[in-house]
Order: sequence, then structure tokens, then C-alpha cells
Amino acid sequence: MTTGFMTGFGGHFETEAVKGALPKGRNSPQRPAYGLYAEQLSGTSFTSPRHENRRSWLYRMRPTADHRPFVAYDGAPLFAPGTVKEPLAPNRLRWGPPKELPEGKDFVDGMVTMLANRSPEDLEGVAVHLYRAAKTMEGRVFIDSDGELLMIPQQGELRIFTELGRMDVAPGSIGVVPRGVRFRVEVDGESRGYVAENHGLPLRLPELGPIGSNGLANPRDFETPIAWFEDKDGPMEVIQKSLGSLWTTTLDHSPLDVVAWHGNYAPYRYDLSHFNTIGTISFDHPDPSIFTVLTSPSNIAGRANADFVIFPPRWMVGEDTFRPPWFHRNVMSEAMGLIHGAYDAKAEGFAPGGLSLHNLMSGHGPDVESWRKASEAELKPVKIEGTMAFMVETCWPYRPTAWALERAQHDYDQAWAGFPKAKLP
Ligand code: FE2
Repeated sequence: MTTGFMTGFGGHFETEAVKGALPKGRNSPQRPAYGLYAEQLSGTSFTSPRHENRRSWLYRMRPTADHRPFVAYDGAPLFAPGTVKEPLAPNRLRWGPPKELPEGKDFVDGMVTMLANRSPEDLEGVAVHLYRAAKTMEGRVFIDSDGELLMIPQQGELRIFTELGRMDVAPGSIGVVPRGVRFRVEVDGESRGYVAENHGLPLRLPELGPIGSNGLANPRDFETPIAWFEDKDGPMEVIQKSLGSLWTTTLDHSPLDVVAWHGNYAPYRYDLSHFNTIGTISFDHPDPSIFTVLTSPSNIAGRANADFVIFPPRWMVGEDTFRPPWFHRNVMSEAMGLIHGAYDAKAEGFAPGGLSLHNLMSGHGPDVESWRKASEAELKPVKIEGTMAFMVETCWPYRPTAWALERAQHDYDQAWAGFPKAKLP
């Protein structure tokens, strides 16, 4: 797909696919050019502070309000089916790449909710879904009123056609579609990956503190597509996720008909290989927050509603340092996935496409073999290569869905048994 992009994170962009479609000097003229409809899309409350405020003005062929009533949609029974309400044992859980994900479906019908917390109507929390898509979304678009969607393809490229533009997102890159933006996903053959659905404040770049004005994910590496539209009459299904359920209606035209737009509420993509990875050059690892790509804050300073964190290729040079991720218990809850390669704390049994959960205060760390190797290794500079793991860390403990819990493995049996006892003098 050839398309253009505008670079920068959270910038105030303006773009038009037809010359003269974007009004000059005002947002809502009495008669927009070509009979277009001016529509504001508000991603934050009107009165959010200026640095938080996100909205875009869309100039479209028909207004979004032009639709018939939505009715219940039952084509994706594993997408948002509610979370487990029974007591949840504080075990570490993991899933291999689930073989039973729906087969031969498109991006929406192939979506399976694995982990969730809070409720979309709290405007807080995050859910982790897996998808398996074998076919393009034909004659239908999706819209998520419950949150913005962070898409993390693991196999196969996603071609995401949104109201505000289109973007290819290949494994190794992420794509973010803001809450409430309609889109269609096209694929070529079997595609798989992860989706984090953020119910909270929109994702943004983390503060850099003493790191300074550069580093981690740099704003210039984020790409927002230029305006694109399709002028298509005929039936088009709209599936909308709202308050945790799926709904459907059919329009007589494609709603991907935004000819021009301006604002700072828009989809974007980011190639994870551009991440400026920072770590120790003396001893000890910094906390893994040093690997945060994007964060959604909660209302408590420094406590994330959701952090998207990656573990990219990097040099390990720490002297007198246990180099794998250390043993840990955490008030934050950690969901981890693997895009490719191996993760350095889980030598065994963590395959690309898999998922693990280290929930609230569950003890975790390297398995015995990884611990032994790292304890005995000669500490030369070593480069960890060919790997990309990620974490969706949240202050709200996750609950697996019933489907996920039935298929979960406990990872205690083998790899975590047999740590030798410390020998006191
Ligand atoms: Fe941890």
C-alpha cells in the first residue's frame, strides 16, 4: 500500500486528500467545501488541560450520526465475553501460542480476549486480546468505543484502513487506533498478534526525567497517515464495541469517507527497532520502566493505568551483575508477549505468540536453568540479539477470561523447581 505519513507524536496535523477540502481559518464553516460535513472527534473532555487535550476535525461525505439502530452482534463470541469473577489463585500463568484461536476468520471475529481488568465504563484499565485473522474484513468496519487499540502483529502484516488514513503495520512495528475511530483490517493469509485495549487516558510518551530531552521512543519516529478516503456506496456493516459488548448496524455507504482532517487525535504507527534502548554501563539493571515505549497514566502520579514496554536487542555490559531480569514481586501486574526470538528469563517454553501473566505480587524471575547459567557466566559484554518481547503492565490486577483460564498452564512444575538453598556460614 503506498501512502504518505506525517511524523511526530501528538502533533497538530492537517491533511486533505482532495485539494480545497480542508477549511481555512475555521473549523465548522457554514458550508464546507464540496458539501462535506464537519464533525469533531473528541478524544479528551473539552476542558482537559491543553497538553492533554486531543481532538480532530473531520470533513466527511456523510456524518457519523447517519445510521440505523445497532443490535447485538454475536459473530465474535470470545471477544470481550466478560472476565472471570470466581476467586483467582495467585499463580503465574502462561499460554503457548493458542492453537484454538478461531480459524478462517477476519480481524474482529478472530479476536479472543485473554486478560482484562476494570470495566470499560470506568474509563480505566486495559484488556489484552489475541487475534488470528485469515481473511480481510470485507464489507465491514470496526469501532471501539471502549478504548484505543494498540496492535502488536506477531505474524503477518496488517493493512489498517482508518477514517483518518491508512497504514501498514508489520511484525516489529505497532499501530495505534484511537478510541472511536472506525477502521478495517486487511491481511494476506494467516496473521496473528496481540491487541492491548486501553480504556484509560490515551497513550503518550513517558517522561524522560534525568535521561534528558532525547531517548527511548523519539517523537520523530511516530508516523500518522495522511488523509485517505473511499467513496463507496452499498451495504457496509459497522461492528461497534461499546460497554464491553459488540453491536452491529449496516450503513448504505463506507464510513471511511473522511476527505480531510486536522487535529491531534489520530492513528499512528511506530517501528520498534527505532527504540533507543538505554541500560546500565556500570552495574545492576535499571528498573524495566527504562524500556517504556508508551504509557497511559492513572490519576496517581507515576502509577500507570497501562505501560507498553519492550525488551529489544541490547548490549549487556554490567559488571558484577546478575544479568537476566531479577527475581521480582510487583504491585503492578505484568502481561508479557513475545513477537520473535527468545526472552532471556524464560529459556524454556515461551514461544512467539505466547502470553504470560505475573499478576499482583506473584513471585517471578528467571527459571532455574537461566539462573544457573547467568550466575556462572563470564561477564563479558554480550549482545542479546534477534528478540522482541513486550509487556503490558498495569496498576489494575488482571483477570483471565474463562476461555483463557481453561487453557492456562502453570509454569511451576519443571523449570522453576530445584533452586538450591542458600548456604549460610
Ligand atoms: Fe517483573
